[in-house]
Amino acid sequence: MTLRLVGGALLATMLSLATATTSVAQGSAALEMTEPLVSQPGDPRRGRVIVLSRQSGLCILCHSGPFPEERFQGNMAPDLGVSAQRLTASQLRARIVNASVFNPETIMPTYYSHAGLNRVASGYAGKTILTGQEIEDVVAFLVSLKQ
Ligand code: HEC
Repeated sequence: MTLRLVGGALLATMLSLATATTSVAQGSAALEMTEPLVSQPGDPRRGRVIVLSRQSGLCILCHSGPFPEERFQGNMAPDLGVSAQRLTASQLRARIVNASVFNPETIMPTYYSHAGLNRVASGYAGKTILTGQEIEDVVAFLVSLKQ
């Protein structure tokens, strides 16, 4: 009897957790970010520099893409040229800002959100990895890869 009650309570908790997860996944506000982060439009040339930079963007540590001059590109994440074809600017922006909204287990860094981050290196506390302008530059660059 008690066991059944506990089991029932556990099941109820699991169900409510499952519902909570679904509602996050369906929250289109987080899955698409239609509003640019800054008023100045993104500059695709600056965005390309950030994507290829091994100091700031670090994108090609994990991603590959149409960057013929780069001999060493990552193979742990989708080809950015392919993703750019598939995703809109709003969807790209949302993924770069906080990829963990799409996959809580992702290894991709959260580039523009402080929320829910722990073990942040002291120099980065309260800062985002990229600025809003840099995110917009990267989005503009990825959009420019669309054919
Ligand atoms: C440490 C590895 C890593 C770094 C660095 C990284 N990413 Fe990612 N990224 C991933 C992985 C892995 C995925 C696949 C989604 C997942 O984790 O489930 C992904 C997914 C994405 C997606 C969605 C792709 C799709 O087709 O759905 C975009 C867009 C993206 N990353 C852009 C970037 C950009 C731009 C940068 C640099 C500013 C970057 N990523 C840096 C690992 C990384």
